[in-house]
Amino acid sequence: MTIITTVEDLRVLAQKRVPRMFYDYADAGSWTESTYRANVDDFQSIKFRQRVAVNLENRTLKSTMVGQEVAMPVALAPTGLTGMQHADGEILAARAAEKFGVPFTLSTMSICSIEDIAANTSKPFWFQLYVMKDREFIHRLIDRAKAARCSALVLTLDLQVLGQRHKDLRNGLSAPPKLTIANIVNMASKPRWVLGMLGTKRRSFGNIVGHASSVSDMSSLSAWTNQQFDLSLSWKDVEWIKQRWGGKLIIKGIMDAEDARLAVESGADALIVSNHGGRQLDGAQSSIGALPAIVDAVGGQIEIHMDGGVRSGQDVIKALALGAKGVYIGRPFLYGLGAMGEQGVTKCLDIIRNELDLTMAFCGLRDVTMVDKNILLPGSFK
Ligand code: GLV
Repeated sequence: MTIITTVEDLRVLAQKRVPRMFYDYADAGSWTESTYRANVDDFQSIKFRQRVAVNLENRTLKSTMVGQEVAMPVALAPTGLTGMQHADGEILAARAAEKFGVPFTLSTMSICSIEDIAANTSKPFWFQLYVMKDREFIHRLIDRAKAARCSALVLTLDLQVLGQRHKDLRNGLSAPPKLTIANIVNMASKPRWVLGMLGTKRRSFGNIVGHASSVSDMSSLSAWTNQQFDLSLSWKDVEWIKQRWGGKLIIKGIMDAEDARLAVESGADALIVSNHGGRQLDGAQSSIGALPAIVDAVGGQIEIHMDGGVRSGQDVIKALALGAKGVYIGRPFLYGLGAMGEQGVTKCLDIIRNELDLTMAFCGLRDVTMVDKNILLPGSFK
């Protein structure tokens, strides 16, 4: 029995249990993966100020994100093909998040549909939207998210074109996987995964199949992206999307202070400093590196969230200290899911909560909403 104490332990187990094509899909970055690595590495140079003999009783991690109460300021990021890491993966992750008291964000590119999540959870979840050419389809998607009582719309703006991911191309990524000899041989060593998949009907893009008439090849992410993602997307589109949605709007994919100002002008409730986990523009700055300038530019006007490279509760508190009001985890919960299903997602959240809580205590604080730059060593951050 493996003893799991870190997110890295979950990653190692997920790598054993999830077919290579889907593990690689989750774990990879684009091109040389330099931004993917920088996202993780740039957290390391930021140092804490240790404080002692401070009363540490009654500590709390409770906070809010876009005005909604969260058990800790951490949300599950929207991740594509989550139901390929584990059968019914989005439902399991949404349930784990709900029990824990943190937001779950369903991706447009999910395997389980909006309706599947609504039917299997009792609290509102968040929905992530990609803008596609088929505007009728987008209208219906927004209306479906409203009907499912989603409590925030996360609008991703950094995927009009797809960053090239060599591993996906080499693996022939598709959902469901094509039954090539290489895939069959690889899946034969993942019996739990195969059994789970045989036991569910959810094996393709649940939000899209049967809902978008103009999509011809649904199995291939790159073919579908080329066919459907809107090259003409502009801030004007954010206006009508905001209007049609009418609820909390979070803009995802901001890496530049000028774009942050435009996000504020768009009337969004929050923006997410994100380079899509290093999966889009390789060579872009790390998210934690980009955060301070964006906080300086617009921090007083809009909630700033961030994602990218977060692998521990220590990373979460560093991002909070640099001005993020909330932090998203993508790969960490996918590792948990691939390793142990719902229990693995809960384990991931438990690990992060514990690391966040203890680090906050070492820095001499009892309330996560009081975290600011004072917990960091001057000179170790921008
Ligand atoms: C989709 O969001 C992806 O990064 O693959």
